[in-house]
Amino acid sequence: MTRIAALTHGGDVPGLNAAIKGIVYKAVEYGLEVIGIKKGYEGILEKKIKLLKPETVKTWSWYGGTRLGASRLNPFDVGEEHKDKSGDVLKNLEELEIDYLIVMGGGGSLRLTYELSQKGLKVVGIPKTIDKDVLGTDYTLGFDSAVNSSMESIGQLINTTKSHNAIHVVELMGRDAGHLALHSGFAAGADIILIPEYRFGLEQLVERVKEKSDDGKKYCIIVYSENAKPADEKELEYFCDKELREFVGRGAFLSAKLKKWTRYKIRYDRLGHTQRGAIPTRHDVEIGKKFGAAAVELVMDKKFGQMVSLENGRITSTSLEEVTKGLNLVNIPEEYDVKVLNAAIGGLGSRI
Ligand code: F6P
Repeated sequence: MTRIAALTHGGDVPGLNAAIKGIVYKAVEYGLEVIGIKKGYEGILEKKIKLLKPETVKTWSWYGGTRLGASRLNPFDVGEEHKDKSGDVLKNLEELEIDYLIVMGGGGSLRLTYELSQKGLKVVGIPKTIDKDVLGTDYTLGFDSAVNSSMESIGQLINTTKSHNAIHVVELMGRDAGHLALHSGFAAGADIILIPEYRFGLEQLVERVKEKSDDGKKYCIIVYSENAKPADEKELEYFCDKELREFVGRGAFLSAKLKKWTRYKIRYDRLGHTQRGAIPTRHDVEIGKKFGAAAVELVMDKKFGQMVSLENGRITSTSLEEVTKGLNLVNIPEEYDVKVLNAAIGGLGSRI
């Protein structure tokens, strides 16, 4: 019997369990057996697997996270000795009698999956990340749930901030892409949204905050995408302190600056992993199931080295190689209103 395996690699996202269900249900239509690999590529190296039957995954779509577990292990660079164990991935799959692999991953995971496909792995990909930064697809699984959950959290912060006439800085995830901060901040009604794709002027930002706080509204919500940075070179170093950033976040640095430079009450929150752990929305459950089924179709068509993608509302596929060409970032002229959302140096802005 032909066996396909599914794994989830990198950060978990809402909708992954629906995708696994989509894979299993479609696979049984073709008489395939589905194996779930635990903890991403780590599970292949350790041969940790479990049989997935329709009755196993029947109720999975509602759950957040990934029921298979995930890891960030890079098979080309394992442990402190940086061992290349990519050969073991292929060898172990053969020993486990697994014919084909479906990998659900973000940009990093899909890039290494492409490398493995170059070594002969018969694999197809499903794009998933709350960052929505993967090239070759208009959508990545999990984004909608994270946006909705973040929008709700920011909305809740607006309620309390307004009651206390405060300035509230709220930091969101997103890595080098501002999509998550931009969409959830916009929907919730944030006053200022700072994203990595467009540097902000710190002094101008302080002035902007003062204007916004003194305009009768008496509060201000700043959404800070985790990798947003100031344009001012002298401030950049402060915002890049690595050790502090790991546990505190750059939004906290901005809060400290605002505290020093204004007379307002400053509050700071970091939404952190609540964004990843959100309950999947209807959209992610639906897309998850469809992406899962489409991945099985790619396997049946022997389109290895391809990734399921969404293009103009249609599910299609693209080469995994596309993912290696860069990142899908916010398109500044089309999507980001610099004058309204940013405080750019001299009003001219600083696109990176
Ligand atoms: O790529 C998804 C993501 O959630 C990023 O937005 C964030 O920077 C990162 O993963 C956090 O990773 P970890 O959970 O490993 O700390």
